[in-house]
Amino acid sequence: MQPITSPKSSLLPLFFFLVVSIRAPMILSVNDPRYTNCRTMLSCGSVANIGYPFWGMNRSSYCGRPGFELKCEDDVAKIMMNENTLRVLNINPEQQILKVAREDYWNGYCPRELIDTAIDFNQFDYSPNLRNLTLFYGCYLPATSTFIFLTNCSINGTLMDVSYSTRNVLSDPRPRVCRRSVLIPVYEAAAQDLEVNPMTMGQALRGGFELQWEVDNDECRRCRDSDGVCGYNQTSNSFICFCKYQPGETTCLPATASSLTPLRLAHSEVQMFIAVAANWICCMPASDCILISLSSQ
Ligand SMILES: *[C@@H]1O[C@H](CO)[C@@H](O)[C@H](O)[C@H]1NC(C)=O
Ligand SMILES: *[C@@H]1O[C@H](CO)[C@@H](O)[C@H](O)[C@H]1NC(C)=O
Ligand SMILES: *[C@@H]1O[C@H](CO)[C@@H](O)[C@H](O)[C@H]1NC(C)=O
Ligand SMILES: *[C@@H]1O[C@H](CO)[C@@H](O)[C@H](O)[C@H]1NC(C)=O
Ligand SMILES: *[C@@H]1O[C@H](CO)[C@@H](O)[C@H](O)[C@H]1NC(C)=O
Repeated sequence: MQPITSPKSSLLPLFFFLVVSIRAPMILSVNDPRYTNCRTMLSCGSVANIGYPFWGMNRSSYCGRPGFELKCEDDVAKIMMNENTLRVLNINPEQQILKVAREDYWNGYCPRELIDTAIDFNQFDYSPNLRNLTLFYGCYLPATSTFIFLTNCSINGTLMDVSYSTRNVLSDPRPRVCRRSVLIPVYEAAAQDLEVNPMTMGQALRGGFELQWEVDNDECRRCRDSDGVCGYNQTSNSFICFCKYQPGETTCLPATASSLTPLRLAHSEVQMFIAVAANWICCMPASDCILISLSSQ
C-alpha cells in the first residue's frame, strides 16, 4: 500500500503550483501601468483629489498636460508659470478654475527679484473679476490719491520706497521714473479696499487671483465614461485615454464588449485547465484504488 499512496500526495503540490503559475502572470499583465499611475490623485495640503490635466508628485507626466505640473513643498501645492512660482490656493475641476497667489509676495513686499505676473496664455486666462495692481519700486516721489505709499524695501542693499496703484493712470510720471514696477492681479473687491487702505495689501495678495484653464473637458469626460483614465501623449501632443486592459486612444471600448472579453476568455481557459488537471490527478488515484481493491479481492 505505501508505494501507491505516496505518488498521490506528491501530485497535489504540483497541481497547486501549476494553477498558481498559470494565474500569476495573467493577473500582472491585466493592468496597463499608466492606467494605474494616472488613477492616483494629487493631494498636497489643502489641495486634494486633483486629477487630469494636472500631474506631478505621484502622477507621471503622461497623466496631465504640459504646463500643469504641481509641486508639493512643505504641504503647499505650487505651480510654475514662466518666471513665477504660484502658490495653489484652490482648484475647481468642474469649473476649470485654478486659484493662485504669488509665492514671492506671500510674506512681504520686498522679494529679491521684481518680476511681473506672467501667466501661460496658451493654457490659462485671467478670470473676469480681477484688476491689475501695480507695485512701484524706487520712485522717490510723493504719494498721491492714486499712488499710495506702502512701505520701504531694502533690496540688494538698496533702499527703495514702494507705492502702488490699482488703476492705469497715464498722466503720472511714476511708471517711467521708478526703478521697477511689478504687476499682480487682485480681486476687484480687494482692489477697492486698497484704494482706501494700504493695510489691506497683505490680505489682497494672499487672497490671490483666479485663472481659467482652457482644456477641452469633453474628451476627458468621454474617456472617464468609458472607464478610462485621462492622459496625454507627449510625442503627438494630444489627449490619450488609458484603459485598464488595453491601449486606448480617445476612449476605452465599452466594458461589456471587448475590454472584458479577453479576460473572461483567459479566465475560462484557466478554469478549463484546472478542470482537466483536477480530473487527471483525481482519476489516477481513483483507478489505482479500483486496481488495488480489485487485486486485494
Ligand atoms: C506618493 O509617493 C510617496 C513616495 O514616493 C509616498 O510616500 C506617498 O504615500 C505617495 N502618496 C500617494 C497618495 O500615493
Ligand atoms: C538683486 O540681485 C539679484 C542677483 O544679483 C538680481 O537677480 C535681482 O534682480 C536684484 N534685485 C533687484 C531688485 O535689483
Ligand atoms: C493686466 O495687465 C496685463 C498686462 O498688461 C494684461 O494682459 C491683463 O489683461 C490686465 N488685466 C486686467 C484685469 O486688466
Ligand atoms: C521710507 O524711507 C524714507 C527715505 O529714507 C524715509 O523718509 C521714510 O520715513 C521711510 N518710511 C517708512 C515708513 O519707513
Ligand atoms: C503617442 O504618439 C505617437 C506619435 O503619434 C505614437 O507613435 C505613440 O504610439 C503614442 N503613444 C501612445 C501611448 O499611444
